[in-house]
Amino acid sequence: MKLQYVFTILSFLILLVLHGSTTSAQGPAAAPAAPIAPVAAAPAPPGPTNVTKILEKAGQFTLLIRLLKSTQVADQLLGQLNNSNNGMTLFAPTDNAFSSLKSGTLNSLSDEQKVELVQFHIVPTYLTSSQFQTISNPLRTQAGDSGDGKFPLNITTTGNSVNITSGLTNTSVSGTIYTDGQLAVYQIDQVLRPLQLFAPRPPAPAPAPAKSKKKKASVVADSPDETPADNSKAAAVQNIVLFGVAAVVGAIYL
Ligand SMILES: *[C@@H]1O[C@H](CO)[C@@H](O)[C@H](O)[C@H]1NC(C)=O
Ligand SMILES: *[C@@H]1O[C@H](CO)[C@@H](O)[C@H](O)[C@H]1NC(C)=O
Ligand SMILES: *[C@@H]1O[C@H](CO)[C@@H](O)[C@H](O)[C@H]1NC(C)=O
Ligand SMILES: *[C@@H]1O[C@H](CO)[C@@H](O)[C@H](O)[C@H]1NC(C)=O
Ligand SMILES: *[C@@H]1O[C@H](CO)[C@@H](O)[C@H](O)[C@H]1NC(C)=O
Repeated sequence: MKLQYVFTILSFLILLVLHGSTTSAQGPAAAPAAPIAPVAAAPAPPGPTNVTKILEKAGQFTLLIRLLKSTQVADQLLGQLNNSNNGMTLFAPTDNAFSSLKSGTLNSLSDEQKVELVQFHIVPTYLTSSQFQTISNPLRTQAGDSGDGKFPLNITTTGNSVNITSGLTNTSVSGTIYTDGQLAVYQIDQVLRPLQLFAPRPPAPAPAPAKSKKKKASVVADSPDETPADNSKAAAVQNIVLFGVAAVVGAIYL
């Protein structure tokens, strides 16, 4: 009785196995490999996201791609995506955005400045559209610390629209190209021109507010900008200081 059961079950199992192997043999040979696949394919998926590929697929970013490649920022991005837990956000200007720049704009930049221009469009954090609403300005971009005022980038939102300003360029996010939790690519319709590279340079007035602070720190360095009266005062102070130092040195050695 029991043996009979065992036998029936066994033959049923054998049938199942035989059936399985014949059907899979007829298949495209992919099925039997399935259990091994995750192990064999493992090295491929963890590779960092290829930004160039994403932009190529999206179309209308050929000029940005060219810049990303020629400045080697594309490679930097790959490495950073691979090594960062914070992710990355790229504001991608379209081809139209680049062609609406004043002609010769890109050519007027040095290689280093081109790198800065591209890096100015990259924020070293993954930003979702809802994070735009609570972001604190100015943002830090890859071009440098915004704290020194050279590369400020501000984001403000009204309803669903996300405005971006560099101080020279006002634009807004016009589309989401890609997001995967690590990398976000947003389309913008103007190239963000950082103050550091494109600010009009009227001679002295700009640094003026900082002068009063700097004066104490380095009297000598600032003296060319001072009025003659200031200059003589500065010189007097300098002389007194020198005299003081000489006196002290003298006192030590005599
Ligand atoms: C990224 O994609 C581009 C375009 O598809 C390709 O030329 C490049 O070799 C890729 N880079 C890497 C590191 O896979
Ligand atoms: C990604 O990072 C891992 C470990 O940090 C490293 O072994 C690998 O070469 C990196 N890949 C790329 C494409 O940078
Ligand atoms: C965003 O820009 C639009 C026009 O470009 C403007 O009307 C709107 O007031 C701006 N919103 C914010 C929050 O700056
Ligand atoms: C960016 O935001 C900071 C902080 O709110 C502000 O001080 C600065 O003037 C803003 N810059 C621009 C270009 O909007
Ligand atoms: C950008 O927007 C600010 C505030 O809305 C405005 O003061 C400034 O003139 C605008 N700049 C340009 C270049 O449109």
